[in-house]
Amino acid sequence: MITINYANMLSTRVGPHGLDEARIAPGSAAAEGIKSLTQSLAKTKGTNWERWYNLWQEPMRSEHVAAIKPIAKDAQKYENLVVLGIGGSALGNIALQSALNPATHNLQSSKDRSGPRVFVVDNVDPVYLDSILKVCDPKKTLFNVVSKSGETAETAAQFMIIRERLQQALGKKWASHVVAITDPEKGTMRTICDQEGITTLPVPDGVGGRFSSLSPVGLFSAACAGIDIEAMLDGAKAMDERCSNEDLHKNPAAMLALLLVEMGTRKGKPNHVMMPYCNSLYLMADWYRQLWAESLGKKFDLNNEIVFSGFTPIKALGATDQHSQVQLYREGPNDKVFMFLEVEEFDTDITIPTSADGKGIEAIEYLEGQSLATLLSAEKRATEYALLDSVRPNMTIQFPKVDAHHIGEFIALWQIATSYAGLMLNIDPYDQPAVETGKKATFGLMGREGYSEWLTKVNDALGETSHTI
Ligand code: PA5
Repeated sequence: MITINYANMLSTRVGPHGLDEARIAPGSAAAEGIKSLTQSLAKTKGTNWERWYNLWQEPMRSEHVAAIKPIAKDAQKYENLVVLGIGGSALGNIALQSALNPATHNLQSSKDRSGPRVFVVDNVDPVYLDSILKVCDPKKTLFNVVSKSGETAETAAQFMIIRERLQQALGKKWASHVVAITDPEKGTMRTICDQEGITTLPVPDGVGGRFSSLSPVGLFSAACAGIDIEAMLDGAKAMDERCSNEDLHKNPAAMLALLLVEMGTRKGKPNHVMMPYCNSLYLMADWYRQLWAESLGKKFDLNNEIVFSGFTPIKALGATDQHSQVQLYREGPNDKVFMFLEVEEFDTDITIPTSADGKGIEAIEYLEGQSLATLLSAEKRATEYALLDSVRPNMTIQFPKVDAHHIGEFIALWQIATSYAGLMLNIDPYDQPAVETGKKATFGLMGREGYSEWLTKVNDALGETSHTI
């Protein structure tokens, strides 16, 4: 079970930079507030844009698993799985693959790795896409297009490129090398799939991109690569049960949200750094960045008042960034909260050998016979202490192990914390109105019909300048 140690967030440890224990004590206004927020969530979860809570509940859970498994089984005949998508349609895939498969998955021989090589193409950088397509023979590749709307320019462009490559390689059978994950009923991708007979899996209604990693959006590529998707859903369900408790001190998502919102809004700490001491969790921090940024960064609250809410999520890696960022973290502005991700038991450990001739060099002899996991854990504890010494609030999210169950717990923890934070900030965590301007301007610049006014707007605003050096 994932746990959160938040002692270093309290004023008893970091003075005025922390929260007074009385503020969150049983019976406090905050603890009473959590009761009513939990009651309110109990009514709304599973409805409207909170239908992502259904992903690990019956019947949706079994429907998805049953739909995914045979297609993922069939995908084993391919050498490559190339996932096309961006934002919420890609970040969950990337995070799950990097958390639960070895970093060298794609370098292993087909008999040593679990499933096809997996590439998640989440950009339209031509060099990047070209380099992936060069090593993925279309005849040996399954392309998994993920787009709820089907209209996202980046994913649409990628899809059009691979469609041509597949048509050239396979002729009329091209569509058999595509699995699309899209809206079950409407949208551009749905129309294409229906016309071309492309196999599809659903992005269910009421499940936005950044809340979709435990839907077929993230589960399909995970299942193809041998990840135990049912264990992941079990983990999410278990976390949801813990987070249904009205008692703040028994509800990890409510506590996480409360601590971060209080720090961000009352203690001048709007920068929230996630720092895994574990390489496989590093890209999970990218998934968190989208969830926390896009959900909470809002100009208007639900009363239509201008609030400019939100916190800046930052990622760092321990121990690597101790040699890059910690100087700033300790002596720069005290405007951050640090969230360490720590793993109790690594799948593998390596012992640092003693010197063969028995003559160690004094300065590094202390390492002999110790393990890398012990060193990493000492580095984390040392950094925790160093931050505390500089009165920098921090907490530790502890994983007993990095496995499918605990990853499911972690995803649900953050999604539920995000819904609590939305309620605390009185904003809508499920929309992203500010993303639209850039999308429309891109349509205008790329000549899409009906968007020419955007071309004019962009060119007027970004006209010729002499301020270039
Ligand atoms: O979280 C979100 O809603 C976004 O990041 C979307 O997932 C992203 O824009 C891709 O959208 P779509 O799946 O419609 O292509």
